[in-house]
Amino acid sequence: MDRIFSGIQPTGDVHLGNYLGAIRNWAKMQQDGIETIYCLVDLHAITQWQPPATLRANVLDMASALLACGISAEKSVLFVQSANPHHSELAWIFSTVARIGWLNRMTQFKEKAGKHKENASVGLYTYPVLMAADILVYHANLVPVGDDQLQHLELARDIAQKFNHDYEQDFFPLPEARLQQVATRVMSLRDGNSKMSKSDPSDMTRILLKDNADTIAQKIKKAKTDALPLPDSSDRLEDRAEARNLLAIYAALDGQTLQGVLDEWAGKNFSDFKPILADKLIAHLAPISQKMNEYASDETEVMNILAKGAQKATTLSAPIMSKMREIVGLQGS
Ligand code: TRP
Repeated sequence: MDRIFSGIQPTGDVHLGNYLGAIRNWAKMQQDGIETIYCLVDLHAITQWQPPATLRANVLDMASALLACGISAEKSVLFVQSANPHHSELAWIFSTVARIGWLNRMTQFKEKAGKHKENASVGLYTYPVLMAADILVYHANLVPVGDDQLQHLELARDIAQKFNHDYEQDFFPLPEARLQQVATRVMSLRDGNSKMSKSDPSDMTRILLKDNADTIAQKIKKAKTDALPLPDSSDRLEDRAEARNLLAIYAALDGQTLQGVLDEWAGKNFSDFKPILADKLIAHLAPISQKMNEYASDETEVMNILAKGAQKATTLSAPIMSKMREIVGLQGS
């Protein structure tokens, strides 16, 4: 049976990019015959320092968002990474398997560490080793990720393979990426060339799941576009990043292709398109934000769901960990 594992950073202010890029897809993958394990990766989050109270609040926020978007505590295992100590234990073992040369190639580290590499935390550097442990501690074989995480997944495969080779065991599966059928990379509403992100200083660049109808309408109205009417083919969107972004959001909400949307809208103006897009967004997000508010006001319920999830997760990883300890020759099993 396929076992899917994926992780998401616990950020506050969950936005449309998180939803269309990952969360919605996670919800869809909850099907009979597939096991789905979804993890809020707080240990990854602290590779860049943040205030403890913020971290705690963000975990609750993201958990509420996931539940509101249809991740079900019955169909999936939903939990917080630090609640299952097996992740960090396996990460240590994997740090003895992964090579420094492999980590030196990781582009995300280079981007995040910037010019001050010497001053970056060791945790930021070994981030992908922990990610490999997240996946392999459950022997998961499929991993839904965006293309920015493909290199890390490749590293997880390399680690699994080297472990199997070094210990002469066919123990860890080589996990594969599960890319979304319709990859929706939602871009900033003010700059079609940068990703929608919670770290952009302007709130007008993103739509939050908890935004109300007026705010959504306002943000779409003010979204950057250009003066041309909508084209009839996607080739003509190449240098129109903002136009493409709004069309892609529309397509994702409607479950149709970009070309399908263009067939409907070619020749019309953005002034006609935007209110319809705003209506669609509002209709789509209203039930989600309502549920999010319900969960947000019942912290105990969310904590309970996560605690049960952590128990299930630990039950799944425990036998894999004891076998791993035996393979490596560790005594403390
Ligand atoms: N690094 C991933 C991200 O930032 C989150 C993550 C952590 C993850 N562990 C994982 C994703 C394991 C997939 C599998 O998006």
